[in-house]
Amino acid sequence: MEEKEIYKGLAGVPIDYTAISKVNAETNSLLYRGYPVQELAASKTFEEVAYLLWNGELPSESELTAFNERTRPLRKLDPRVAAAVDALPLDAHPMDVVRTAVSVIGSLDKDAWTLTENLSKAEALFAQIPAVVARDHRRRKGLEPVEPSSHLNYAEDFLWQTFGEEPEAAVADAFRVSLILYAEHSFNASTFTGRVIASTLSDIYSAVTGAIGALKGPLHGGANEAVLHIFNEIGFGPGAKERVKVWLDNALATKRKIMGFGHRVYKSGDSRVPTMRDAMVKMIEHYGRADVLELYEALEEDFVSRKGIYPNLDYPAGPTYHLMGFETEEFTPIFVAARVTGWTAHIIEQVENNALIRPLSVYNGVPERHVL
Ligand code: SDX
Repeated sequence: MEEKEIYKGLAGVPIDYTAISKVNAETNSLLYRGYPVQELAASKTFEEVAYLLWNGELPSESELTAFNERTRPLRKLDPRVAAAVDALPLDAHPMDVVRTAVSVIGSLDKDAWTLTENLSKAEALFAQIPAVVARDHRRRKGLEPVEPSSHLNYAEDFLWQTFGEEPEAAVADAFRVSLILYAEHSFNASTFTGRVIASTLSDIYSAVTGAIGALKGPLHGGANEAVLHIFNEIGFGPGAKERVKVWLDNALATKRKIMGFGHRVYKSGDSRVPTMRDAMVKMIEHYGRADVLELYEALEEDFVSRKGIYPNLDYPAGPTYHLMGFETEEFTPIFVAARVTGWTAHIIEQVENNALIRPLSVYNGVPERHVL
């Protein structure tokens, strides 16, 4: 067999440049267009961060006003997209619903292939995905959809459309922080998927649909949902430490991956976790759920002490969305709503300086042979 070094999973393999974000495992840091994500989370709206990712600079006051005037009217779903969401089974996974909705949005865009218009298409997807997630949330409960607002900001409107009431400031702020932290993370699996599809000069909707499919996996974005499944298996309430020990003994004995822990790039902890954990703790205090913190800390302390593998962003994000009232299977669609900004920024960057992404393989099958 031909001897060639294989880089399975492309681990540690740089395959292109990007100016959008810098993930630095050595310093455990993350920059969006040069700004530390923690500074953005502390002071900017999600709209401002989306604008930054797409345009390379934070918007001026007039640019932000124009951006909001352009995107807020786009929050309302086309009736055909709404009908497509309603046509799906009530037990369809919410990630399948959002993936289908993006596909339908693309099929309605007669200029889908106009790659030079990708920024305006990205802004429209950014504006519409909350309405898809919210409509799906409400239809499962037999509730009528709530019309998007024009005066609420993105985070507030997402919660308004989902729960039918204007959110408390503390809840909207924790949600805003989570969206900023989830927005972008260089060549993660779903972003890379989007870039591969964009590199064939396919349309932005196909690239985003593919990225949603990649994000659904529990090794990637699906982990935030899986964290809650683990919490429910262990159980909330007094005595969490003891239950965690028994649960982990069994999980590790059966070689289970503990969702919400570990990362391909960060090996001494995910740079975003402290900020997301602070937001989670604020929600725990807001809703009076000290039992959630007890379980969160018991599992983290025990697993880190046993394996030296640290939490990633999904670990604090899942419990935060649970406390806010989202259904567990809706956590990853929220990740989609945030990450669609990063995905589309990368799709635009890929097309601007494109090369078809097509790696090699090393054949290890049967030697050549002949039918006759
Ligand atoms: C995200 O890439 C990004 O930037 C992604 C993301 C983003 O913002 O886009 O940050 C979002 O996807 C975060 C990751 C969410 N996924 C999970 O929480 C799923 C659980 N995590 C693991 O599956 C794992 O940590 C990965 C997939 C995230 C990363 O794994 P790697 O780098 O491929 O390393 P590996 O799986 O080869 O693990 C190395 C060792 C293995 O042990 P051995 O088989 O060599 O004995 O560590 C073990 C693994 O078994 N290990 C774990 C583990 N993570 C690593 N064991 C149990 N539970 C875990 N979570």
